[in-house]
Formats: sequence, structure tokens, C-alpha cells
Amino acid sequence: MDTYTLFFTASLIGIGLYWFLFVLGSAEQKGKHVVHLSSGSISAEKVLDNYNQYSSFFRRPKEILETAEDKVPAFVDTFYNLVTDIYEWGWGQSFHFSPSIPGKSHREATRLHEEMVVHLLGSKPGDRVLDAGCGVGGPMRAIAAHSGSNVVGITINEYQVKRARIHNKKAGLDGLCQVITGNFLSMPFDNDSFDAAYSIEATCHAPKLEEVYAEIFRVLKPGGMYVSYEWVTTELYDNGDEDQVEIVQGIERGDALPGLRSYRDIAEIARKVGFEVVKEKDLAKPPAKPWWSRLKMGKVAYWRNHILVTVLSWIGIAPQGTVDVHEMLCKTAVYLTKGGETGIFTPMYMILCRKPESSVNSS
Ligand SMILES: *[C@@H]1O[C@H](CO)[C@@H](O)[C@H](O)[C@H]1NC(C)=O
Repeated sequence: MDTYTLFFTASLIGIGLYWFLFVLGSAEQKGKHVVHLSSGSISAEKVLDNYNQYSSFFRRPKEILETAEDKVPAFVDTFYNLVTDIYEWGWGQSFHFSPSIPGKSHREATRLHEEMVVHLLGSKPGDRVLDAGCGVGGPMRAIAAHSGSNVVGITINEYQVKRARIHNKKAGLDGLCQVITGNFLSMPFDNDSFDAAYSIEATCHAPKLEEVYAEIFRVLKPGGMYVSYEWVTTELYDNGDEDQVEIVQGIERGDALPGLRSYRDIAEIARKVGFEVVKEKDLAKPPAKPWWSRLKMGKVAYWRNHILVTVLSWIGIAPQGTVDVHEMLCKTAVYLTKGGETGIFTPMYMILCRKPESSVNSS
């Protein structure tokens, strides 16, 4: 090679690397560049260890409920230490799905799916609204901006609280959005203290849905509305079909779920804790367009990202174990896609409830 070719090749590689590391997936929109991948609140040298503990815990989701239910919150916390940065980098600030909308970007479709919460709850300026399981706050910001309500988010993961506060400030929404660390099974809020509440693809992490629903019921004012987007198996799911069971277990293992519930159970549980059920609907059903297409289209991106994290952890920029976590998420994406395509699973079974006017908190 002559000097010119060498120079040209080197510049091309340099620009390519720069593009990969600093431009791809604008951090302004999504939150993270690949060079800044961390492992949440756990130190870099413990990532692999934590990943191994996590994956052996969630290997048999059904048994967790019988033997180790009380450990679930800690492992959900570990899970979000491991995945939060990768989610922000590869997906964005809203850790949930939404139906795709022809002619609209993923960001737009996500925002519309979040703003639907405002319409369902009827939230208005001055309302105090709870976000149970708020992640890094993508939904909270969309909902506060759209409604003018004050949103209070709770997440079990301290690192997510830190990220959410940074994003709230950047978006100029820290006046309306507040975030705290805590377990949604036992929240540090007074009885009857919220005008409305919502949870977006979050209560699926609770071992018993009645526990989180009862807690949300407690903090809502009488007459207050609650809407949740639930991860459930649909009427098409047959638990005698081995292939289907494998899909469901793959989703549970890769998303820190102590057992997926059936769509049938949701309204029943809501009523059991005292709610009136106003409406329930699988938002993934046609005419809604597939929510999983975004996972499928990302195949090339997965491989590119896989190579990136491999190189970065090899040269010591990303923590050891990042590759394993990334691989787990890629495998899970395949199961989620299969769940969507077969129609046996939905991440957006919507339930809208009201706490009756007459209800008093007493146990
Ligand atoms: C709040 O509600 C719970 C459950 O409904 C009840 O046990 C408790 O006594 C109430 N607390 C106060 C201070 O009223």
C-alpha cells in the first residue's frame, strides 16, 4: 500500500469508529453512547457474578413463586442494574413496547402509546399522578408534558432514579416530575394521596399482582383512576404445547418475570383488591400494527452491537459480563418476537380501573 491508500484507509476506519462510538443512536434522544455503558449501581468487576446469579434465579420462573418469592425484588433490582444502560443505548428512554404506526417513527409511536394514559385517566394540570415502576422515566416525561400533571415515579433501582432525574432536568420537566427509589409492593406514600395512577409494563415483575394492585389502591384517592399495561399470555396460549411453553419461559427468564399471568386473571385481581373495572383491552390486537416489528428489524443492529460490546469489554471499556447480558437480551428479543407473531403473548393488555368513591382504607 502506498502512503495515500494507507492514509485514506486509516481515516475511513477512524471516521467509522467515531460514528459507531459517539454518533450512532444519538445520546440526546436515547440517553447513552456505547462507550458509556455501565452496570448501574454494581461495580464493574461484579457484573459477571451478578449476571450468573440472576440467570440461575430466573431459570425456573414457576418455582420462584413457591420457594423464593421474597427474593424477587432484589433480583429485579439486579436485572435493572445489568440492563438499564443497554436498554437506553439500544432502545431509548421508554422501556416498553408500543404498536408500530405506519408513517411514524418509533419515538412518535412510543409517545402516542404513553399519551393514551393521559386520556384514559383524564389527568389535568395540578393532578398528582403515580407512576408505579417508572424506569428511567420516558413515559413520565411524555405524560407530564402532555397533561401538565405532577407525576411521582417509583422504581426499585437506584441507578434508574439517578438516570431519570438527569433526563427530567435535561427535558426541563423536573418541576413536574419527581422520582424516588422504592418497592411498589410497599410504597412510602400516604393513603388516598394520588388523583390517579398508572403502570406501564412494570407490574409484571411483581410475584403477586394483588399485592401491587392493593398498594396502588391504597394510595389512590376515592374516585381515582388507575390504568396498567400488563404483560400476559392471551387466549391463544396453550400450556400443553411445548413450543409455546418454551417461548413463554424464554420471555420470563430474559425479563426478570416471576411467572407470566393469563389475561383472564387481571380484571379478577383488580376487583379482588376493591377496584371497579372500567375497561380492559389487548392494545396489541389488530387493527394495531405489530409491536414486535421493532425487535425484528433490529437484527442487523443486534449483530453490530454484539460486536461492539465484545470489542469494548475485550479492551476493558465495558465491564466483563456486558457481552453475556447483551446476548441474553438478544435471545429474549427472539422469544418476544415469537410471542407476538404467534399471538400467545401481549405486553399491552390494558386495564382501566376506578377506586370507588365510597371506599375507605381499612384492613
Ligand atoms: C391506610 O390503609 C391501610 C390499608 O387499607 C390501612 O391498614 C391503614 O390503617 C391506613 N392508614 C391510615 C393512617 O389510615
